[in-house]
Amino acid sequence: MDMNEYIKKVLDNRFSNYSISGIQGGNTEANLFRISCRNESYILKTQNSGLKHEYLNYKWLEGKVPVPKVKFYYSGKCEMLCMSELAGNTLEYYINKADPREIVILYAAALKLLHSVAPDKLALRQDLKNRIAKAKYNVENHLIDILSMQYENQSVEPSKLFAKLISLTPEMAYPVFTHGDYCFDNIIFNGKILSGFIDMGNGGVGDKYQDIALASRNITDFFGNEYLPLFYEHYGLEDINKEKIDFYILLDEFF
Ligand SMILES: Nc1ncnc2c1ncn2[C@@H]1O[C@H](COP(=O)(O)OP(=O)(O)OP(=O)(O)O)[C@@H](O)[C@H]1O
Ligand SMILES: [Mg+2]
Repeated sequence: MDMNEYIKKVLDNRFSNYSISGIQGGNTEANLFRISCRNESYILKTQNSGLKHEYLNYKWLEGKVPVPKVKFYYSGKCEMLCMSELAGNTLEYYINKADPREIVILYAAALKLLHSVAPDKLALRQDLKNRIAKAKYNVENHLIDILSMQYENQSVEPSKLFAKLISLTPEMAYPVFTHGDYCFDNIIFNGKILSGFIDMGNGGVGDKYQDIALASRNITDFFGNEYLPLFYEHYGLEDINKEKIDFYILLDEFF
């Protein structure tokens, strides 16, 4: 049985009278589909592995902040996560259509909202030591995609970059519930209304700078660093720890 037939079999057990179509996206290993069933619309994400954390994060965040509602999570020959399709578009879609200031303010306010959720014992944890160990593994096994790195890092030997990462490793953490990959394409707005956070497989309790750093990188890449103060102001960040921002941006290069 090929994979498409396999997916269809899983869906046949859960939906009646549905239609399925492939959708754009899936930067890495994910395949994405839209499922239409009566008047409802769902997104199905399939991957060889790695969707369980995303599923658990949506379940934990349900009722706390806007996230997709999980229809089902399945683990077998591959993993599948089926969730409600959020209304609107990713924040990336609004670039060149809306004022950058407005986008940056919405981006900051949404992160402030997510970070205001108090973690409890059931929330997943993102352990920095584990993540650094995975980064090391990726270096040693040549699993790093050099072309997706920041331009200035592409010509540096990965093992040298890793040594730099270790030298920058911060000690103190400000634990909050982090998104884990807080980029413009992982947050959906319906006009100015936050529809929800998506792609939260790397989310969990961790240092708030994990998200602040990737947001800073995104803002700089798309609009220039003159928009950073606006972001920090609307997020509510006063003492900016530049070293931590550099550390978390560098850490992301290894994935
Ligand atoms: N629940 C959802 N509602 C609406 N659109 C969604 C939803 N889930 C995913 N999408 C759309 O599909 C795109 C890709 O989804 P997602 O970000 O989860 O996967 P990905 O980017 O491939 O993952 P990765 O970042 O690991 O490569 C999103 O940017 C968004 O446009
Ligand atoms: Mg994504």
